[in-house]
Amino acid sequence: MQIIRKLSPLREALGTIRQSKSTLGLVPTMGALHSGHMQLVETARAQCDAVVVSIFVNPTQFGEGEDLDAYPRQEAADAALLETAEVDLIWAPTVDQVYPDGFATNIGVSGVSTGLCGGSRPGHFDGVATIVAKLFNQIRPDAAFFGEKDYQQLAVIRRMARDLDFTHDIVGVPTVRDHDGLALSSRNAYLTPTQRDQAVALPDTMREAASTISNGGDVASILDGAKAKLLASGFQNVDYFELRNAETLENMTVFDKPARLLAAAHIGSTRLIDNIAVA
Ligand code: PAF
Repeated sequence: MQIIRKLSPLREALGTIRQSKSTLGLVPTMGALHSGHMQLVETARAQCDAVVVSIFVNPTQFGEGEDLDAYPRQEAADAALLETAEVDLIWAPTVDQVYPDGFATNIGVSGVSTGLCGGSRPGHFDGVATIVAKLFNQIRPDAAFFGEKDYQQLAVIRRMARDLDFTHDIVGVPTVRDHDGLALSSRNAYLTPTQRDQAVALPDTMREAASTISNGGDVASILDGAKAKLLASGFQNVDYFELRNAETLENMTVFDKPARLLAAAHIGSTRLIDNIAVA
């Protein structure tokens, strides 16, 4: 397995892979890999002949005061995991390979980027859409794999890919959860043991709210009750706890299918997100 940091050897290596393997899967990541990422890699392995994993902590998707500098970086451990998973190539570009001097292009996806994480992290999805479009052009995969854990991100990428005529598959992979239901995330590493225990209130509250909504309860009061429950369980504030159309992400005040509950809340200085289908 090669680790490549510059565009020119990347093109050469991709050319060699393409000579013997007919389908190529891309798993874009920012490293600090956990079982959730490895599930993406396994899904890619099952569906494609070759798998490329990108590791790039993308500065343009972090806002001021967010955790860019503190974001966990552990490339050697990541590479060991990916080697065992039989990944063909790691694309770990230096910042200048992605954003050369004078870089001036921004991809903004309106509609699906509005509100939710787009509301509390202005500019975040522009950074995501721009880097992902660049990765698609650099790797030219047949399929790209993203976790449903970042549900709004997946919706933004699907919209961007349709709008910009990327024709490869965008595959959404279900969220991987810890034994107690907490969605796996690189940010869980920031939680103290007490916060980690309290954090399980997020998936518990979401499951309960999803079931009450699908049983015909009043959406607004269920959402209010869920926020209050999170605050009473140790979360310091709730960025959002909303019911949305699962495809367009339009706000939903009366339950209709397909629907998705999405939430983001702070525990200590850590912001956790989660989402769940309302069937
Ligand atoms: O989900 C992530 O890890 C990142 O947002 C992504 C898709 C790799 C873009 O930097």
